Amino acid sequence: MLFKKSNTTQSESSDGSNVKKPSRKGNAHYLTAKESREIAKSNARAMREYEKKKRVKNVDESVYTCQMQDENNIVEFDDLHTYFFTDAGVSKAVDGVTFSIPKGATVGVVGESGCGKSVTSLSLMQLVQAPQGQIVGGSIRFNLGDKAYDITKMPMSEMQKIRGKQIAMIFQEPMTSLNPVFRIGYQIDEMILLHTGCTKEEAKARSIEMLKLVGIAAPERVYRCYPHELSGGMRQRVMIAIALSCNPRLIIADEPTTALDVTIQAQILDLLREIKDKIDGSIMLITHDLGVIAEMADYVVVMYAGRVIEAGTTEEIFHNPLHPYTIGLQKSKPVVKRKVERLYNIPGQVPNPIDMPDYCYFKERCDRCIEKCNGEYPHFIQVSPTHRVSCYLYEGQENKGGNADE
Ligand SMILES: Nc1ncnc2c1ncn2[C@@H]1O[C@H](COP(=O)(O)OP(=O)(O)OP(=O)(O)O)[C@@H](O)[C@H]1O
Ligand code: SF4
Ligand SMILES: [Mg+2]
Repeated sequence: MLFKKSNTTQSESSDGSNVKKPSRKGNAHYLTAKESREIAKSNARAMREYEKKKRVKNVDESVYTCQMQDENNIVEFDDLHTYFFTDAGVSKAVDGVTFSIPKGATVGVVGESGCGKSVTSLSLMQLVQAPQGQIVGGSIRFNLGDKAYDITKMPMSEMQKIRGKQIAMIFQEPMTSLNPVFRIGYQIDEMILLHTGCTKEEAKARSIEMLKLVGIAAPERVYRCYPHELSGGMRQRVMIAIALSCNPRLIIADEPTTALDVTIQAQILDLLREIKDKIDGSIMLITHDLGVIAEMADYVVVMYAGRVIEAGTTEEIFHNPLHPYTIGLQKSKPVVKRKVERLYNIPGQVPNPIDMPDYCYFKERCDRCIEKCNGEYPHFIQVSPTHRVSCYLYEGQENKGGNADE
């Protein structure tokens, strides 16, 4: 059996994941049956190990209790690695992501399709598709006020108490996220009953109140509807109502408006902003749309090929973008009153996550390459207390008094 591949083959590293080594086989594009078998064997071994660790029962709280680096943050991603053990090799979907979400702030995460935005947020919810998907390294510290937990070490049973209650997620496509065979009311009630221990009548009253809060005109009627009886905008509002029903500290909104037309999009964004202030929570907003980020976010994290390549305040990223990829993203966005024949597009493609190079992942597409770019992957340069960039062009421009946001 032949699979498409690059000119590498697999061996195992200390973390149990497959690491690519140059292949001695002649064919540079396909896996031989032997190589496929080796990958399958080593994947099975690694997945078994990670799943075994997850199944450990009666884990003491001290194992997953941790200390926040900054008490003003609600979440701190610290060198997070989430890999998928696929038939073609190990896909490094998230490969060392570090950033934090301050309390009460909206952090926008942007980047090209496939750069690991959703996998980062799913890692925070412990919802990465197992057994293929596994968090293989790093930590995610979540601040509960009186204590903090490292989500990567939390047992499933404890995570279930936090998921939905403390951290809620609004998914990209409401039709596939709502269960088509249950009424809307049942689906909101379920969340409230699970996390609050109230009676069915109280849950129903709270569900109707939430539907009203998200701007649904006839909440009692919608409570009895099935998802297919609602419009796309209404379904997305229902998703938001479910997400907010237990007053979460953090809302993850993964492209919450992509499936909606622009007028509904504006309404949903207004609603999110309004509700964030009401519950005094934080938002992790994932989107392709720089316009949405400019309107909503306080901080921006730019991801490329599984890594953060630039992060800063919205002002810094929009008025002083530094990384050639961020600059390219800005140039490719249409601007009112700026007339151009064609919008800019960044040439080339994101490298294959199964076979990442050792040097800067953006090098093949970068028009500002310098000699140093052939060397190892560029480390972060802190250009201001809140702005950092991973690019050789800014070496020597470190902010001397800066304090890293990581
Ligand atoms: N279940 C899975 N099995 C294998 N690989 C996966 C799986 N889910 C995601 N990936 C891989 O992880 C990488 C990151 O995917 P992710 O969904 O995080 O991208 P994204 O940045 O959210 O993209 P988009 O903007 O299109 O939603 C991609 O290369 C994708 O192919
Ligand atoms: S490190 Fe070099 S190749 Fe990478 S983005 Fe900067 S200039 Fe371009
Ligand atoms: Mg996504």
